[in-house]
Amino acid sequence: MASISFKNVSKRFGDNLALDNVSFEVKDNAFFCLFGPPLCGKSTILKIILGLIDPDEGEVLIDGRSVAGVAPAQRNIAMVFQNLALFPHMSAEQNVRFPLAERGVDPLEISNRVAEVAEKLNITHILSKPPSQLSGGERQRVAIARALVRDPNAYLMDDPISALDARLREQTRVELRRIQQELGKTLVYVTHDQEEAMSVADTMAIMEDGKIRQTGTPVDLYDSPNSTYVAKMLGSPAMNILPLDFAGKGKPISFSGNTPKTAISIGIRPEDLEIKLAKPSNGASVVNVEPLGSFTTLMLDTSGKQLLATLRGQTKIQTGDHVAIMVNPERAHFFDKSGAAAQAAG
Ligand SMILES: Nc1ncnc2c1ncn2[C@@H]1O[C@H](COP(=O)(O)OP(=O)(O)OP(=O)(O)O)[C@@H](O)[C@H]1O
Ligand SMILES: [Mg+2]
Repeated sequence: MASISFKNVSKRFGDNLALDNVSFEVKDNAFFCLFGPPLCGKSTILKIILGLIDPDEGEVLIDGRSVAGVAPAQRNIAMVFQNLALFPHMSAEQNVRFPLAERGVDPLEISNRVAEVAEKLNITHILSKPPSQLSGGERQRVAIARALVRDPNAYLMDDPISALDARLREQTRVELRRIQQELGKTLVYVTHDQEEAMSVADTMAIMEDGKIRQTGTPVDLYDSPNSTYVAKMLGSPAMNILPLDFAGKGKPISFSGNTPKTAISIGIRPEDLEIKLAKPSNGASVVNVEPLGSFTTLMLDTSGKQLLATLRGQTKIQTGDHVAIMVNPERAHFFDKSGAAAQAAG
């Protein structure tokens, strides 16, 4: 078992502040996801947990104990690296066996364990091939198998399924979620795909530029983003964020709720806009209609501002139509000048 926590961890590479006062807590057995754009510091966090990089400031605790000065091997954490690093001269099977062979585990026990993991990851049929004869997706599965074959304190995975095509990625993330629950082990998982993050994580941390901007369950972060940054990171299409004077009685977006004093903008998710055909007045015009099967995306223009609405299924609304837009006050978000969520007074 292993809980992992960062307390005010900072890391510089030369002048570059790669991690800026990062704190978070991963509970034992949790599926914890780090999500953020390129170069925001995700891999650096994993390498610090693994013990490959030492923080400049702050403390890293595994199971409540500081791991300062503890060598990677002693930490007993299995990692799937972003660049995979399979041994090219070994077959997939030898690659998967390697971590156990290196530790002198009995060969028969290794074979059983490898067969078990290979079946879970659907790679039994490719075990005899060398990495050069595998597709990108197959190589990623072999690399995951090589980590799962061990019995470590925790697993770290750095964007492990990014090379898979969309459908296989959906299948694999469901598998990973199931495997993690079966193994009952802490998993810290990096991805730059918001849908993947939301689908697998118990808890996720959203990062920007070396900082963690918000931590919580996917649903918490989706429903209560603490900033326009987090609001825009989750959800596709992204939240509409408009100046406050677009919403209210007689405004392009009809809205009759209370507005926090410090708010300067209103955020509304595309699925929370209610759309009705209307006469051209002070509503919006439909600029584009995208029928996507299970839902339809409308691009709307109101006084030169564009916003996106999604409707379930199909719609009769067409490009060039005029619509009235309403929003349920409970589904509106407000942000202040700094981009932070604005709270209603009282
Ligand atoms: N060994 C290193 N030497 C110098 N700078 C580094 C090193 N490792 C990371 N950095 C820098 O630290 C910052 C964070 O990098 P990191 O690799 O953690 O980002 P990331 O979130 O994993 O990005 P990506 O999504 O592209 O993998 C970047 O500015 C990167 O250039
Ligand atoms: Mg990285």
